[in-house]
Order: sequence, then C-alpha cells, then structure tokens
Amino acid sequence: MKVLMINGSPRGNGNTFMALNEMKNVFEAEGIETQILHIGNQDIRGCIACGSCATKGQCCFNDAVNESAKLFEEADGLVVGSPVYYASANATLIAFLDRLFYSTHFDKTMKVGAAVAAARRGGLTATFDELNKYFAICGMPIASGQYWNGIHGRAVGEAAQDEEGLQQMRTLARNMAFLMKAIQLGKVQIGLPEREQTVYTNMIR
Ligand SMILES: Cc1cc2nc3c(=O)[nH]c(=O)nc-3n(C[C@H](O)[C@H](O)[C@H](O)COP(=O)(O)O)c2cc1C
Repeated sequence: MKVLMINGSPRGNGNTFMALNEMKNVFEAEGIETQILHIGNQDIRGCIACGSCATKGQCCFNDAVNESAKLFEEADGLVVGSPVYYASANATLIAFLDRLFYSTHFDKTMKVGAAVAAARRGGLTATFDELNKYFAICGMPIASGQYWNGIHGRAVGEAAQDEEGLQQMRTLARNMAFLMKAIQLGKVQIGLPEREQTVYTNMIR
C-alpha cells in the first residue's frame, strides 16, 4: 500500500513537514510505503481554464502537477499538508491541487484523503475545511483523528512543542492506515460501489 503526502509549505523542514513526518513514521510502522512530495517551494501557477486536460488527460503546464499525477494514481491514500496563510491554505498548494484534481481523470473513488494544517494561532479549521473539499468531490473517504487536524507553531521547529498536535497526527495516521487496509479488503470481498453516469446540469437546466 502507498500513501502520497504533499507538503504545501515553502519551508521544506517547517511545521507542516513536522506534522507530515509524524504521520509518515506511523505509516511506515504499519508497513505502508510513504512519500513526502515538497511542492510549496516550486513555481506552480494556477489553472487557466483552457480545458485542454479534458482531451489530453494532463495539464498543459508540465510541472509538479503532471509529475505527481502518476504517484497519486498509484496511491491508496493522499495526505495534503498546508501552512495557514490568512486563514487559508497557501496559494501554491491551492494552485497545485486545483490543477491536479481537475486535470487527472483516473478514478479516485476510495482513495483515502486526509488534510493537515500548521499555524501560529488561527485559521486551522478553515484551512482544514478548505482542503477536505478536494476529497469530498470525488468519492474519497476522509480519514479523521481526535481533533480537526492541526498543529501550532510559528518559527521552523516550534511545532515540536505541540504535544497534542503531534498526537493528533499519530492518531490520524493510525486511523488512515486502518481505513486504507479495510478498503483494500472491501474492494476484494465486496467490490467498489456501483457508479452512475455523472449528470451535469450547471444549475440552469
Ligand atoms: C503570508 C503568511 C500568512 C500567515 N497567516 C497566518 C494566519 O492566518 N494564521 C496563523 O495562525 N498563522 C499564520 N501564518 C504563520 C504560519 O502559518 C506558521 O508560521 C506556520 O507554522 C507555517 O508553517 P510551515 O513552517 O510549514 O511553513 C502566516 C505566515 C505567512 C508567511
């Protein structure tokens, strides 16, 4: 089993990384292959709504989005980590996620998703809600822990002092590992749920 973890922070060893790394240790102890992809320091532009991904199956901008699409397709779970910027996920991560989710057409149903956020003080739950929207629109069950997954700290490394936040990450990772394993069994024993042809009405007809 594989988990892909996205670090949206420009700081590769910052507090978001600390949260992700605490989860990574649990995944590895559970025998789950884990990769942390650092995208927050890259030049990633937003979606330009050209629609070319509809025919090409990949984004017209060939950057970290297309590189990570294959990893996402192969993964059983996706963890997205963000620093909180103005009570929201940071702009680079949102640009990355908009394009990753819009441009890829493989079935994401039953890949488990989890979102984590790092902040000095406020905006953690708004960011958590924002990130969970990507999972909920495409049939991805959302793993949860013992709180709304967040860790506190401002300077690099301060999150190490947030005992409760670190415990949240471990609990989340254990729950996510269980969910992924249960879904793997369920796929074999029950099969994926039936899927109807999607109806698009654009709210006008
Ligand atoms: C542009 C910017 C905006 C920020 N906005 C917030 C905020 O709204 N709330 C907050 O608590 N911290 C805010 N912070 C602090 C970061 O969320 C905090 O330093 C966090 O630990 C960064 O995570 P990182 O170490 O993974 O980069 C902001 C930092 C920056 C650079």
